[in-house]
Amino acid sequence: CGIVGYIGEQDSKEILLKGLERLEYRGYDSAGIAVRNGEGIKVFKEKGRIADLRGVVEDDVTGNTGIGHTRWATHGKPSKVNAHPHQNTSDRFTIVHNGVIENYHHIQRDHLEGVEMESDTDTEIIVQLIGKFVEEGMTTQEAFSKALKLMKGSYAIALLDAEEEQTIYVAKNKSPLLVGLGENFNVIASDAMAMLQVTDQFVELMDKEVVIVKKESVQILTLDGEEVARDPFTAEIDMSDIDKGTYPHYMLKEIDEQPAVMRKIIQAYQDENDQLTIDSGILDALESADRLYIIAAGTSYHAGLIGKEYLEKMAGIPVEVHVASEFGYNMPLLSENPLFIFISQSGETADSRQVLVRIKELGHPSLTVTNVAGSTLSREADHTLLLHAGPEIAVASTKAYTAQLAVLSILAAVTAERRGRDIGFDLVQEMGIVANAVQAQVDMKEELEQIATDYLSTTRNCFFIGRLMDYFVGLEGALKLKEISYIQAEGFAGGELKHGTIALIEEGTPVIALATQESVNLNIRGNVKEVAARGANTCIISMEGLNEEGDSHVLPKVHELLTPLVSVIPLQLISYYAALHRDCDVDKPRNLAKSVTVE
Ligand code: G6P
Ligand code: GLU
Repeated sequence: CGIVGYIGEQDSKEILLKGLERLEYRGYDSAGIAVRNGEGIKVFKEKGRIADLRGVVEDDVTGNTGIGHTRWATHGKPSKVNAHPHQNTSDRFTIVHNGVIENYHHIQRDHLEGVEMESDTDTEIIVQLIGKFVEEGMTTQEAFSKALKLMKGSYAIALLDAEEEQTIYVAKNKSPLLVGLGENFNVIASDAMAMLQVTDQFVELMDKEVVIVKKESVQILTLDGEEVARDPFTAEIDMSDIDKGTYPHYMLKEIDEQPAVMRKIIQAYQDENDQLTIDSGILDALESADRLYIIAAGTSYHAGLIGKEYLEKMAGIPVEVHVASEFGYNMPLLSENPLFIFISQSGETADSRQVLVRIKELGHPSLTVTNVAGSTLSREADHTLLLHAGPEIAVASTKAYTAQLAVLSILAAVTAERRGRDIGFDLVQEMGIVANAVQAQVDMKEELEQIATDYLSTTRNCFFIGRLMDYFVGLEGALKLKEISYIQAEGFAGGELKHGTIALIEEGTPVIALATQESVNLNIRGNVKEVAARGANTCIISMEGLNEEGDSHVLPKVHELLTPLVSVIPLQLISYYAALHRDCDVDKPRNLAKSVTVE
């Protein structure tokens, strides 16, 4: 979901729609724009895609000021009525909002008695509240600030006042929002990518500021009206990175980029003598910690499970991995000197950010591993390690996951060296072998498409099993498959399936097993036999040296700890083709958002 805005001399419609298209990758279910001209404010909105919105936008309505929105519904189903922008009863104020107003019920009860709501959204409460305050005699700015003071929750907001042609009021709390600067125009955007076509100069906004954006000025104020000065930064994103080129989907492009990303990561973390290196501040932080707490969501959580193996086995530091949305509300007993490691592709996930805020209050140090320099989690943590994967546009994460594994392995190896521990292999050399093995996988699309056809064409469900590292990769394989193909998929530890889940195995149920771990190779093959005996359609993906006749796919041999970087690739491609064959929207799966900025 996202927000854009434009104020200047051109017609804003096309700039807003283009901007929203650039934010499409974040996932949304409806969209809308509002444009302001001499006659007032005109709102266009529609359920579905930006293409659907384009269908209802009237060409002859123009306006030099406008705001736009993609919605990922939290309050009220996705529909035209619930789509943003929303207006107050008199239509004087028009608002777009990302996030959740947690106390909207209280606000409604205490301040808006008798006001009839048109939508089911929490957002409408804000615009009605501002309208009410202005009716009672406040200026728009006063009403906006007062509303912000009353609101609890997360928000990025842009507000238009029909009686003030030349202003967009903007504010944020927890949710991301930037102001972009131009000559005789200014823009707003949830992320720089949306407005790169008109500017690369952006100003960061902080939580709970009121920002007054005009054509020639941007004024940042505290909620109490004090002015704040802030320099712009230059967004360093290469437009060609966000171009799909000849690929049918971003996901396929991003899968293919993985060998190059791995080589880029190695280079980025090598010093002039080709030795792997990590910022000494980060190494000091790890050295002072008696326990590491990895906090993440979704695919990044799965990367964290493998990161734990690296950090414990190579660096010898105990690690716990936690799902961000649980940790914040159910904190375990912490060790004396914890270090928190946040893993997040986008650097914006609200669940993770909420934990960062809490642990900062407790005075604990933090490190963010992210793909997005300047993202919220990166700015607010003490340290950052970048993934160098280039923008990831497809909602389902692929290259960011393998980049997370690569960066975590480097962090573990360099920390091990600093602590005088011998990891027993040369990581740079082994990563080179991994990059080649990954290349070999992305070159085997036909074979992997055939596996998708053989196993997943008609099935309702699918199980992934593995042991040790393969278990964690199976979890990610299952998540990938369900995200984009909507097949119900689950990952299990090979030995655990029989304790309950095996009841689901029927004639023809696909079970995909990974067999890349030597010490448990016979055990996992035993587990495959157990499900095959009960009718499962089994597919074994093994590694050279451990393979047996009848295996469906064999991976080149790589170091045992690094197998996840390779074994996940066939699972990504199998998911891709399964989704493609089912006519699913691969890059923009239903109900999902790329960066979830609500808790
Ligand atoms: C969303 C996405 C997932 C992603 C998760 C964590 O739910 O749909 O694909 O893994 O967020 O995102 P992050 O940006 O924090 O890695
Ligand atoms: N809570 C608002 C709604 O459901 C905004 C959701 C969003 O972030 O798009 O309309």
